[in-house]
Amino acid sequence: MRHVVVFTGAGVSAESGIPTFRDALAGLWERFDAEELATPEAFRRNPALVWGWYEWRRMQVMRAQPNAAHRAIAQLEERVGRFTLITQNVDDLHDRAGSRSVLRLHGSLFAPRCFDCDEPAALAPEIPGEPASGRALAPPRCARCGGLVRPGVVWFGESLPEAAIARAFEAAQSCDVLLSVGTSSLVHPAAQVPFVAKRAGARVIQVNPNPTALDEIADLNLRSPAATALPTLVESLSRD
Ligand code: OAD
Repeated sequence: MRHVVVFTGAGVSAESGIPTFRDALAGLWERFDAEELATPEAFRRNPALVWGWYEWRRMQVMRAQPNAAHRAIAQLEERVGRFTLITQNVDDLHDRAGSRSVLRLHGSLFAPRCFDCDEPAALAPEIPGEPASGRALAPPRCARCGGLVRPGVVWFGESLPEAAIARAFEAAQSCDVLLSVGTSSLVHPAAQVPFVAKRAGARVIQVNPNPTALDEIADLNLRSPAATALPTLVESLSRD
């Protein structure tokens, strides 16, 4: 059976109540300054502001549930011969929906590590109540070297995890169908994944209620929310 790649962005989790980055009004980068929150320099300047903001996001994710799109993607993995799920998301909703293997290009909210020595750090317990967005919270200290613990996500100006991006491009080059779900396709190098697949001859299907940078090359543009489109699409891909 064919090799299907699913490539997801923040839009796949939007219907679980997790805000995207660039949607008008609700997008995180419409309300918060990425330069103050998502760069190594920002963490050096104000570690408590950055740590508090990511802990707020982690708490939001812990209270959210996977939606029909996450579940349909997990089902597709069981139905096709070869399957690769690549996500730019830092939540764990694909895993909780039952996806067995997730290639994470931008890290995870659930894998903090030391800013100085890279040692993985234990997760703090859930903070009771709804932590206010932007509330400063001192980051824990590394058990090995005493350095500050940072969120395990990729920040602007940082490289993507080498093994994950290499495997993502390899999968894109060898797939028959690539399904791009809920991403603006603006953040590189991750955004190149569907373009690599297209150049290598794959059929590219996009699910997104809004136009994106991928529209021009997609063979099919489904202008629909992910949780509506994915269950039907997965049924038809499973039959192909
Ligand atoms: P964006 O916020 O840039 O794009 C989200 C996309 O989801 C938009 O194109 C929306 O139209 C679409 N969308 C909204 N609701 C949807 C729904 N219900 N169903 C399907 N699509 C929907 O998010 P990403 O493309 O994921 O980087 O952003 C890429 C990277 O930029 C993120 O991984 C993050 C951010 O800075 C890091 O954290 C390193």
